[in-house]
Amino acid sequence: MTFKEEIQRRRTFAIISHPDAGKTTLTEKLLLFGGAIQVAGAVKSNKIKRTATSDFMEIEKQRGISVATSVMGFEYQGRKINILDTPGHKDFAEDTYRTLTAVDSTIVVIDVAKGVEEQTEKLVKVCRMRDTPMMIFINKLDREGKDGFDLLDEIEAKLGLTVTPLSWPAGMGQRFKGVYDRYDKKLILFRPHGRQEEEESVKITDLSDPRLDEHLGESLAEELRSENHLIEEVYPAFDKEAYLRGELTPVFFGSAINNFGVKELLDCFVETAPSPRPREAEERIVQPDEDKLSGFVFKIHANMDPRHRDRIAFLRICSGVFRRNTNYLHVRQNRKLKFPNPTSFMAAKKEVIEEAFPGDVIGLYDSGNFKIGDTLTEGELLHFKGIPSFSPEQFRMVINKDPMKQKQLNKGLLQLMEEGVAQFFRREHDGARIIGTVGALQFEVIQYRLQHEYGASVDYEPMRIHKAVWVSSDNPDAWKEFLTRRRRDLAKDIHDQWVFLAESAWILQTTQENHPEIVFSFTSEG
Ligand code: G4P
Repeated sequence: MTFKEEIQRRRTFAIISHPDAGKTTLTEKLLLFGGAIQVAGAVKSNKIKRTATSDFMEIEKQRGISVATSVMGFEYQGRKINILDTPGHKDFAEDTYRTLTAVDSTIVVIDVAKGVEEQTEKLVKVCRMRDTPMMIFINKLDREGKDGFDLLDEIEAKLGLTVTPLSWPAGMGQRFKGVYDRYDKKLILFRPHGRQEEEESVKITDLSDPRLDEHLGESLAEELRSENHLIEEVYPAFDKEAYLRGELTPVFFGSAINNFGVKELLDCFVETAPSPRPREAEERIVQPDEDKLSGFVFKIHANMDPRHRDRIAFLRICSGVFRRNTNYLHVRQNRKLKFPNPTSFMAAKKEVIEEAFPGDVIGLYDSGNFKIGDTLTEGELLHFKGIPSFSPEQFRMVINKDPMKQKQLNKGLLQLMEEGVAQFFRREHDGARIIGTVGALQFEVIQYRLQHEYGASVDYEPMRIHKAVWVSSDNPDAWKEFLTRRRRDLAKDIHDQWVFLAESAWILQTTQENHPEIVFSFTSEG
């Protein structure tokens, strides 16, 4: 196979949802189709359960398991599919945001009864920022839920997407008879009892076909016809190019647990979803089919075993071919590195690979060289854009309980922050060390890991901070005045960038108003 064909056949994506909508179940069904797993239940164990809110031992255990399922690669219809796993727990949302920088498209799962939920809104917003093409799977049609058109309205209103239904349900819950696949023009029949191995489908290209009545009964058939008519009038026809630009979102209906409607989604997905897309670096746009290797680290995973301090850095390949035991430039450190054991994640098992192509994600064993956002190239100084830090919402001051272990503490904090566990700020006027996170769980994870991996013991003190916002200005006078006037509320992050620690939303707003020359930024591309 040629290099270009290898790129063309790759589909690298993530499935995102509000917890409980069915992301794990759908992932599992896709893996079953690809023969990557043989039994249901294999992915389940990766979930950080809601019950684990303060059980960090459990989180540690699950973190270990999740290395294996961080990337799930499999072959389907000649395509190489890479599913990048994202943690469902909202306290780990930042991990998810970063993973979204490494995919070319996403599938969004929505529960038919619950509609668009909070976490869905946040994640879709991140995808929209990057024009990532999305497909939506409305799940749990075997249960009673919201009316299909109401759901589409809700999706358009809350998520700001233009949608086009590519399948449409006939009934729902008790009356659920199946879906009409508008893309492939066939009726797929639902058998409510028992899991379906093979879907039963009837090719019906024209909905006036009387076989529709035979299979659905007259009233459902009529309903489907008139709803389909309405769809044709109201919603734009599917346009692959618009989808690829992130401007049109196809919607599918089904029931993941019953493996129903999943194959239609997967078949349309492999055909239409984008192969690896060009990537924007600060210096230029990088095309996937360029000869020279480039890639960036979007995730770092610490080793579970504290005796081995090594970590796994996940590299998304953007261009060229990655080869084992070859020297590559670590751009930030300006030095050459080679990797004897690069790992791929096929079929949930890890194996050492000889080469990998654009779109692939490989694991590199790392003894502390990498941090999130780092780039590898064959010599060019490239810095990929768009791996943001999000302004954290929970803050605590770090108190060192054991002054003899200052060094260990510093090292531990630095490494954990490089892994992206949380963000670290040092307040300018008193040197206070502040950790900011998007969720409360990370504080416990950090405390636990500092103790067990670095032998440093810390306590926290609560802080009255509403948000940390990156600040900068092109106007030297305004900047100087800002630094003097707001001195007590300023800190630096680990990249030495200035951050304003706003005590309340009101203070943030008035400060913005009082300092119009200062740019306040809620994400940083550090
Ligand atoms: P998540 O990863 O998005 O958090 O969701 P997950 O797949 O774990 O699914 C959440 C719950 O919804 C699970 O039930 C799952 O079985 C159920 N579910 C998924 N797809 C469907 C569907 O098509 N129809 C119906 N009726 N239920 C579905 P649970 O009771 O939380 O877990 P379990 O005991 O079934 O494992």
